This record gives sequence, C-alpha cells and structure tokens, in this order.
Amino acid sequence: MQINKIFPGIYEFSFGEREQFEPSKYMLEPSKTEKLNALSDCRLPIDADLIIGEVTGRGALITLPYSNGEEIYGFGLQSGKINQAGCKRLLKTNADAQGNIGNSHSAIPFYVSTKGYGIVLDTMRYTCFSCATSKPHKTYDLSSPKTEEKDDIKVSEADLYSQKSYGGVITAEILTVKGMHGYLFAGNSQSGLDCVADVCRRYVLFSGGGAMPPLWGLGVWYRACGQFNETEVLDMASLLRDENMPVSVLGLEPGWHSHAYSCTYKFDKGRYGNYKNTLKKLRDMNYNVNLWEHVFVHPDSDIYKPLEPYAADYEVWGGIVPDLSIDEARNIYGGYHDNYLLEEGISGFKCDECDGSDFTGGWSYPDHAKFPSGIDGEQMHSMLPMYYQKTLYELFKRRNKRTWGEVRAQHSYSAPYPFILYSDWYEHKDYISMVLNMGFSGIMYSPEIRTADGKADLYRRMLTGIFSPKLEMNIWFMPMPMWKNYNYDGNWKKEILPDSDQLRDDCRRFMNIRTSLAPYLYTAFYKYNTEGIAPVRALQMDYPECRGKENQGYISGISFGDDIIAYPLTANQLEVKLYLPNGIWYCYFTNVKYEGGKEYILKYEIDKIPVFVREGAILPILENVNAVFDGSTLKIKPMVYMSETKTAYGILYTDDFKSFDFEKGFYSIYKFEARNGKLNVSYENNNGYANNNIEILDAEFIG
Ligand code: GAL
Repeated sequence: MQINKIFPGIYEFSFGEREQFEPSKYMLEPSKTEKLNALSDCRLPIDADLIIGEVTGRGALITLPYSNGEEIYGFGLQSGKINQAGCKRLLKTNADAQGNIGNSHSAIPFYVSTKGYGIVLDTMRYTCFSCATSKPHKTYDLSSPKTEEKDDIKVSEADLYSQKSYGGVITAEILTVKGMHGYLFAGNSQSGLDCVADVCRRYVLFSGGGAMPPLWGLGVWYRACGQFNETEVLDMASLLRDENMPVSVLGLEPGWHSHAYSCTYKFDKGRYGNYKNTLKKLRDMNYNVNLWEHVFVHPDSDIYKPLEPYAADYEVWGGIVPDLSIDEARNIYGGYHDNYLLEEGISGFKCDECDGSDFTGGWSYPDHAKFPSGIDGEQMHSMLPMYYQKTLYELFKRRNKRTWGEVRAQHSYSAPYPFILYSDWYEHKDYISMVLNMGFSGIMYSPEIRTADGKADLYRRMLTGIFSPKLEMNIWFMPMPMWKNYNYDGNWKKEILPDSDQLRDDCRRFMNIRTSLAPYLYTAFYKYNTEGIAPVRALQMDYPECRGKENQGYISGISFGDDIIAYPLTANQLEVKLYLPNGIWYCYFTNVKYEGGKEYILKYEIDKIPVFVREGAILPILENVNAVFDGSTLKIKPMVYMSETKTAYGILYTDDFKSFDFEKGFYSIYKFEARNGKLNVSYENNNGYANNNIEILDAEFIG
C-alpha cells in the first residue's frame, strides 16, 4: 500500500493496478489548492500499518481498524440511520433504494469517522462497505479494545437482529478490479472546527469547493403539472403571482417536449406552439424557468443522428444514451442546448432518471452496457449525471451566468456541481434522514413536496423544506396547487378544500420564511464555495455532544448555516425530546431563550418545529422577499440575538447574485457588529456591491 501526502491532512493511497476510469480525472473544478495548503497539517489518527490493501480473487479489498463507540457517517444520500457503524452498505447508484441496504440516487464511497479521518474510494464501480459488522478471528491484530460480549444466551429479536457494531474492522471492497486508489482525509480539532467537520471540509475543498447558487436559486421552487400546455402553465404562473406566492423558479415537466420519454428537447408544436412568447411572459412575471429532461435522446431529436456514433449499445425509453464523457458528444448535446434553450433565457434544467433502476423495467441500460469511451454501464450509472452536469455547467459558465438545477443522481466530488439532488421516494421520515445524512458527503438534497396525507403532513413537509438546501413544491402530477387540495384524487376532481384559504396563507408564510433567509443562506453557500463548509449539515458534524444520541429517543437536528439549528419533524411528532448543543439559543418563532448542553422535552403545533438561533449571532433577514427574483434592492433587517454576550457578530456576503464575476473578486462582505444595543456595519472587500443592491434597515435586538 502506498500512502503519500498531497495536501496538509490529505493522503493519496493506492495498491495493485489502478482502474482506467477514475472519477478524480473528471472533476468539475480543480481542488482548491491554495485553501488546502493554508490549512493546518494533521496526521491520520490511525497507524498507516493498520490500513491493509489486498488484491483478492474477487477484486480489491481495503481493511481499516475500528474502535468501540466510533461513529461512521456518510455514503451519500442514505435514509434511516446517521451512524453507519454496524451497517453493511452496498453502494450502487439506483433509484429503487429497496430495503435500505445502501443503494441510492447518490451512493458515494466516502465516509467520515468520529476518530477524525475520512476515506473516498476513487472508483465509478459499485462498492461494498462493512462498518464493523463482522469480527475477524485472530488474523487482524488490533490494538483497539474489542466489544465486551455478555456471556448469556441471546433469545430476543432485539438481541439477535439489532444493529450491533463489533470492535474490529471496517472493510471496503470493489469487485472485479485489480487494485484500489483513493484519498484519506485527516481532521484536526485544533483547526477551529470539530475533527469530523474538518475532514468534511477538506473533502469538499479537495472536490473543488461547494457550488455557488444564483440568489434566486435559494428562493421557492414550484413545478407545474407535467401534462400542462402553455396556456395552463401561464394560468398557473399568474395564479401564483395573484396569490402573492414568492415563487422564484417555475419548472416545466415532460409535457414541454414534442416527445418524452425519451426526449426531443424541442417544444411541442401543439402544446407549446407559441413557446417564445410564453417564455417571455414567464420572464416578465419574474420567473426563472427550469426545464425537465432526460439524457436519453429520441429519434425525432435534431441531435439524434449526430450523437449516434457516441451512443451506448443499449437504448432507454426508445432513445440513445450518449456517452457524455466524450468531448464531441458533450459539444453536440451542449451546443444544441446552448443555441435553442439557453438562448431563450432558460435558467436551468432538471435531469431525471440519470441514476438507474433494477426493479422498474424498461428505463435503464444494463450494467454490462458498453459505451464508446470504454466505460461500462455500471460505471456510467455513477458518472452519467456528472458528465451531464459538466456539459450544462460549462455552457452557463461561458455565458457568465450562474445556473441552479436539479439532478436525480450524484457521485463523488460532487460539491461544485450547481444541481441539487432530488429523489422519487416520498416518506417524510426518510426525507429527514436524507437531509441529515447528505452533508457529510458534500451533497445537497431537496426534500420536495408533492402530496400530503393531511394538513399536518403538508405543514411539516414545508418546514423541512425551509431548512434544507431547497424548498420545492413539485406538483408534477396534479393540476392545482396543494393548498387548494393536497390529495391526489381530490386535486384532479378540482375539489377545493374548505380550509384552502388558511392553507394558502400558511403556505405563503412558510415560503416567506424561506425567502427571508435567502441572503443568510447565500452567505452560507459562499462559505461552502470558499471554505468547504456545507451550508446544511447534521448536528453530529459540528457538535460532539450531539453524537451517540440517535438510539436514545432524541430527535436529530441540522445546522442551517452557522447560526441556526433546526430539528425537522413529521406530522405526528407533537412532543419531542431533543438535545440542544452547548451555548445559549433562542427559539426562532418565539424568541424564548434556552440553555444548551441539555435535553428538553418540547411541544410543537403542526405549523412549527424546533428552530433555534445562536446567542451572539446577527442574522441578515430579508424583508421584501420578492426582491430575490424581481431584482429590486434587498432590504435587510439585521436581527441581533444578544443578551449574555457583550458583542454579537454576523456577516452578509453579496455580489451581483448571478454571474461568475465574484470569482474575480467582485463581491462585498458586510460585517455586522453589535455592542451596547448599537449596530456597527463595515465592509470587507467592498467592490461596489455593498450599498448598490442592499439597503440595511434598523436592527432588531432580541434577548
Ligand atoms: C419522475 C421524477 C418526477 C417527475 C416525473 C415526471 O421520474 O422523479 O420528479 O419529474 O418523473 O414524469
């Protein structure tokens, strides 16, 4: 096994033969070398001699030591547990994540351990991680203590089948290969972050830093019914404006294509005969338009013939699957999008079904499919979404316009890709665990809202959305907004619920909360971009005191930016036990003060969840929420949370909110500091962006 240091705290490892196709060769952005080199150095917390690489008759195997009590987080978008110790994870990009075995839209071969290290396997192949699920017999001599087994007879199901982790090892296997390559990340708790957060930030910076959204991307998204024609879309767009819903992105689903599925990428002459005019009207109503599509190209598409030489040997939905790892194929696919769609002002795309499926027939290519580049179907299931995103990203970048889109699969090093992951699974409980899990692997996931079992379900789903990377109502299969009727059958029968006015007003209130937080979240995304800190992440990442509580009846929470924490709840969680991290916190809704480092049992109405703001923080709250999409000056109210501390701080990052000029230094950072009831505002790097599109209102003091 070769292990070489490549950056402070980052080590490259390999043994045997390296694979021909490795994801690190196709990264969207180069690693943030300057930032990485500026981080303090740290050693791996495990002895390099205890990391064993072997090429076996099955493939390549790596074995790492595991200690009792060590928690393991990551593996991409996982539902269920946060701590993966005691779990076997079959990491395979797959839309049908049956049985919670590790298959996922985003199954990433990366984990971080509370010991203070992380590992990513640089492979496009499916992998299998066993996190202390089995105990080696003698062959692996470990210095770590072994699990104390009680010498009794196990008879109950709980005894036999509960998740148990054995002192011993973590193994990761890639089948059919003759070697392994990857990176190890060390975390340092002296770095100002906890060691887990430090590992995750090194992984994100190594991946190229987090994506920077346009400001409108952080507002509210609404996707209209897939069967709508342009008149119906315009009616829906007007209705949202008439009802004063702060929707910044309107998504068109498959019906805009002349054929879907597979896709022509051409507006249908019947349903969208006047599409140029329709798109203009939508722009005039201040919508950013997002288009649904597949990568599967229909024979009627103008790019079918040119792409045929670059297609796989299997079709999907009657269309060809282009090998977008090849430059020529990307130029054809991208060139068409550029000329016909970006030219019309389309702000982004939603790439559906780029994952794969084992159990839903007819719409995926097999693992043994052959692509002209030599990449096979198994590898392409992981990488097609990445090549797709690269194709689109490059077009927008050339136009100096930021995009923000959606994608149904992600793989390793995905932090810089400006597409948010979404899923077809719909259990709210799963959504919550996926939001909690995603940040460890540097991915951003949207727990979109489609239908609801009732008012409480709708409200709680909206609240989860507010404090996640994206709040989206994806009403692709119903004609009316959910506040008119959240039930599928009732919605299609056009039955308006008796309390629909109340539902509408509450949905608007939720959307307003989200949008008022957009500048705060934008600032958090800037930190993601430049420092690698995920804007939404489980409390376990930053707060060691919140670890080890998952199986003790506590609900789990997330950091939303650096100063807000939220605990998403499902419809029937009206009284909950939570553990508040150390410090002083204020309830976001009532401003009641709480002392952290303790557990609480708290009651919540259906329109609230536990949300707390940190003592000493200043939140830049947007008052005129429409400004996120209508381009007017942002009116920012600094909310100062201060009673115990003598000084409170906050920052607000601003730029032109839409181009890549910030990369050349065109941005400003407001620095708020409050003392003795007075707010002082200064700027860092004022390049003319402060003041220009921001008005700072009088501060409000809480506490
Ligand atoms: C699904 C997708 C949905 C919606 C639908 C449209 O595959 O997950 O979000 O876009 O297709 O037909």
